[in-house]
Amino acid sequence: MILYWRYLIPALLLALSGLAAWFLPSALVVLAPLSLIALWDFIQTHHTLRRNYPLMARVRWIMEDLRPFFQSYIVQGDLEGRPFSHQERALVYARAKGDLDSHPMGTELDVYSDEYDWLGHSVVPREEAPESWRLDIGGKDCSKPYSSALLNISAMSFGSLSANAIEALNQGAKIGDFAHDTGEGSISRYHRKHGGDLIWELGSGYFGCRRVDGDFDPDQFAEQASDDQVKMVEIKLSQGAKPGHGGVLPGEKVTEEIAEARGVPVGKTVYSPAAHSTFSTPIELMEWIAELRDLSGGKPTGIKLCVGQPHEVMALCRPAPRGHGFGQGDD
Ligand SMILES: Cc1cc2nc3c(=O)[nH]c(=O)nc-3n(C[C@H](O)[C@H](O)[C@H](O)COP(=O)(O)O)c2cc1C
Repeated sequence: MILYWRYLIPALLLALSGLAAWFLPSALVVLAPLSLIALWDFIQTHHTLRRNYPLMARVRWIMEDLRPFFQSYIVQGDLEGRPFSHQERALVYARAKGDLDSHPMGTELDVYSDEYDWLGHSVVPREEAPESWRLDIGGKDCSKPYSSALLNISAMSFGSLSANAIEALNQGAKIGDFAHDTGEGSISRYHRKHGGDLIWELGSGYFGCRRVDGDFDPDQFAEQASDDQVKMVEIKLSQGAKPGHGGVLPGEKVTEEIAEARGVPVGKTVYSPAAHSTFSTPIELMEWIAELRDLSGGKPTGIKLCVGQPHEVMALCRPAPRGHGFGQGDD
């Protein structure tokens, strides 16, 4: 079968080129380059697929390139697709352009599926539903509690996102009155431009508050965290995408702006260690949380983690109530 393709395509193209040269010379514009490509594939010894299937192997790659588009535009239904369906994307585009975001004549969703959530009618509905739902964060030890929206922007660093993206997200947070998590890349000038509320995330690299050796610097932290735009502090213990690996930011990506935000030298590769250097036990973590809260002038300070081992969560919960300001329990 392979032999068949190997000779067939170049032979066919050469024959067609010969006929075209005789009867229809203008067709040579297409046939001649195709014949040359097929011949080249036939002769070369570098790539097996191209040698066995001259020209046709390339058609396969073209189809592979086009596959996502066929999939998205022709094969997939409006409600399929990950992470966002076509319908969800269309809704975001419509709202961003100020276009109509709903269409009449009923829903296309399967409202009888088990996962479908719905609001039930009542003859005695409650009238005092708040205009906007918010959650007060910060216990008795927080002198600056924060009234948080229920939906906020999750942590994505400047560096993993462009300056324009950071600006757009922060401006969105400002307009919508919700909070923008900085991600572990610290606070850049683009986070500050529009003044949207910030949650400052600290990863194991302590960007924005690190000493030259990479350790945590309380003075730098206090200075930056006391900025009024920073509403809460978040310690990143782990993240789904990087289980226990830490992180590397290659030197060529450390531009002047990224270096400025993170407090690292321009052009030099930066490593985030797999674990934090400020604590090594759950109790030390709780003590550090309390320290950060105090250094920030009393702002709510919490943790983000991706649970790998349930017993680790238990270990974190146990020391919390013991006089570290995280609850009222005995033990
Ligand atoms: C571009 C990008 C950058 C991210 N950077 C961080 C980060 O700096 N710190 C962090 O804790 N999580 C980071 N995340 C993870 C998100 O905060 C979030 O936890 C993750 O995307 C899962 O949420 P999702 O299912 O809504 O996407 C990043 C995610 C993305 C897509």
